Amino acid sequence: MISDSLHPYLDKVICADARTILPQLPESAIDLVLTDPPYFLDKLDETWTPERAAPKSYKRQQVHHLPPGMKFDPSQGKRLYEWYFPIAQQIFRVLKPGGFFFTFASPRLFHRVACAVEDAGFYLRDTFLWVYTQSQPKAMSLHHFIRRLPLPEAVKEKLHQKLHGWKTPQVKSVYEPIIVAQKPYEGTLLENFLQHQVGLFQTEIPVGKGMFPANLLLLDETETLLDKYFLLPKAAEDLPHPTAKPVALCEYLIELSTIPGAVVLDPFLGSGSTAVAAVRRKRHFIGIEIHSAYAELAAKRVQEALPALL
Ligand SMILES: C[S@@+](CC[C@H](N)C(=O)[O-])C[C@H]1O[C@@H](n2cnc3c(N)ncnc32)[C@H](O)[C@@H]1O
Repeated sequence: MISDSLHPYLDKVICADARTILPQLPESAIDLVLTDPPYFLDKLDETWTPERAAPKSYKRQQVHHLPPGMKFDPSQGKRLYEWYFPIAQQIFRVLKPGGFFFTFASPRLFHRVACAVEDAGFYLRDTFLWVYTQSQPKAMSLHHFIRRLPLPEAVKEKLHQKLHGWKTPQVKSVYEPIIVAQKPYEGTLLENFLQHQVGLFQTEIPVGKGMFPANLLLLDETETLLDKYFLLPKAAEDLPHPTAKPVALCEYLIELSTIPGAVVLDPFLGSGSTAVAAVRRKRHFIGIEIHSAYAELAAKRVQEALPALL
């Protein structure tokens, strides 16, 4: 049963600040929250704009204009916690008892996300790892800095040689954590599921060669043994957002944790992958996105997904 007061929001891409819309949603009404919030790495924080996030904005790479994700700032984690904690509290309020909250995070700051979610009242059930094969190394060589040192050229040359291969402490990032949280359930898990239709995982969904779902998720073929256990089915897709999540990954998480007809909320919808996945898996969605360019893109992708169901 879908709460009457949820109907005005159902199957809509709402262009607004999630912090304004979440408090308007009724309590204990949402089956699943699946979201990918700003990671608070450089410009991808609460001041996110499409212009600042777009790769073209850092075409001229200079040390003081690094691409998003490259600058190290120890205060980012604390700011992320402070920003996400009240949002996680609202998500806690709107989820049904036993409902799941999947939140993506960066490998560097996911601990702050996990703490915000746990402090909001959720049980932390797991952390899934989405492993991918294509990524650009972000480590920087030090030659640029050496060149600017006030030293004779011969000394600088020696330094260049001495520091050959030494770079800033960043390896290639090839996974993203997905924190798996659950709102406390009522009675036993079985009682909660019978009452609210959430709180269990559907394990008979396609993974690898008929394997049991695992907390490692692969979407690209890698190596036969890994693929056998962890590969999720995926159609080719062209992702139109700097941090768009694959629809197939969202479909998997939705199928794992909800029944058809359930309501899936994504308060940071971006290009709309969660909404498209919900439509494709015959669930309702509520998508919130603050920037109109992304919200329009998401609405367009949802419209395109609808005919595929007919
Ligand atoms: C990491 S991206 C989400 C990408 C998305 N998963 C996809 O597949 O395209 C985070 C999104 O949150 C949006 N955003 C940032 N602050 C927001 C807020 N306060 N309310 C709603 N959306 C916000 C950003 O514009 C950005 O599109």
